[in-house]
Amino acid sequence: MVGFSRAPQELVCDGVSLSALAEAEGTPVYVYSAAVLRDRYRAIDAAFGVYPHRLHYALKANSSLALARLLAGLGSAADANSIWEIELAQKAGFAPADIVFTGVGKGPAELDAAVPLGLKAINVESAGELARVEAIATRLGVRARVALRVNPDIDAKSHPHISTGLKINKFGIPRDAARELLTTVATRTALSLVAIHVHVGSQVTTAEPLARAAALVADLAGDAKQHGVALEYLDLGGGLGISYDEGDVLSPERYADELVSAVRSTGLPIVIEPGRAIAGPAGALIAQVIDIKPRTADSDFAVLDAGMTELMRPALYGAYHRIEPLRPRAGATRQYEFVGPVCESSDVVGRDRFVTPLEVGDLVAIRDAGAYGSAMASNYNRRPLPPEVLVDAGAWRVIRRRQTIGDMTELES
Ligand code: LLP
Repeated sequence: MVGFSRAPQELVCDGVSLSALAEAEGTPVYVYSAAVLRDRYRAIDAAFGVYPHRLHYALKANSSLALARLLAGLGSAADANSIWEIELAQKAGFAPADIVFTGVGKGPAELDAAVPLGLKAINVESAGELARVEAIATRLGVRARVALRVNPDIDAKSHPHISTGLKINKFGIPRDAARELLTTVATRTALSLVAIHVHVGSQVTTAEPLARAAALVADLAGDAKQHGVALEYLDLGGGLGISYDEGDVLSPERYADELVSAVRSTGLPIVIEPGRAIAGPAGALIAQVIDIKPRTADSDFAVLDAGMTELMRPALYGAYHRIEPLRPRAGATRQYEFVGPVCESSDVVGRDRFVTPLEVGDLVAIRDAGAYGSAMASNYNRRPLPPEVLVDAGAWRVIRRRQTIGDMTELES
């Protein structure tokens, strides 16, 4: 069985004992399955069948160099959200022509550096940004490839912090303003409009918002054609959700069907920017129970050596991640509040969980932490960034070593 599974007394990753791995590397430690990354990439890619399409892996989900390289090797293209993610992408082997540059706030130095690179597109977020890109391209005597990110005013029905498609959200250009820009963009010789872009939010688990946003993009492509703009593709963003609690989510097949049906009449290739759906299920954060103390008559606190500094999602979004002992002890399940070591009451990793009895020293896996886990980790409380380990074909290697206090103070004076 590929990925994380019970074998049968212990949780393993592609046949590798997670307890042995944690013993060697210490905890907390992020562990990724190369097989799951490959499977997830291929499943989404295959779901589009023969319809022309390209996956641009959203590096923001997890841009560890080894993972980015693995995805580049599979034929993935990249979605970068800053000039630094573009640099990382290039280091990982993505060609500039395979990188889209997204992001609501691209600084002047970022745009100066990005315009001459020959990226697949800079996805512009406002009329002002379009004009700034145009000015840089004019100064450099180049033609900048741009996509217009439209704000579709569609509710992604995800957590409010990660929904981006409503007009009250800071993202994109309102539909009417986008239509207006399309009437003149063909005359702006320093710009080449290659796509319309939309992204309604992340962890989207129903088809309707994605399909409606895609239909709007197809409609705008019609407008663009009328005004003499020949688009190269439609960028339908990321957002495909995963099942954190083993409940139902959109399958890659259904997702692809919905997108293809919505835009097929344009005949244009589809670009998507999946992050979580590829990296999320491929990773787990392994932590140790470092204290247990009474909480209520029926429950205990289990204090872990990993918390909001290693995995911010529960504290920030109330996100649910399964937590499982690596080697379950015998006995009836008991209620635990899994908390981290950080001096904040919001530093809760899992609320009111029922698991087999725990003792200090036990190891647990916090599942589906491959996306927006390590990528959002911080040094709060001077906690070092945890190491990352990649399991591939029954062997594992450290792809990032544990940070030290020396690494941190190196930057300081
Ligand atoms: N494209 C754009 C323009 C985006 O803003 C994002 C995510 C993606 C693609 C990738 O979305 P995905 O396929 O991963 O859903 N930190 C949050 C998620 C933030 C998502 C930000 N944008 C979390 O932990 O849930």
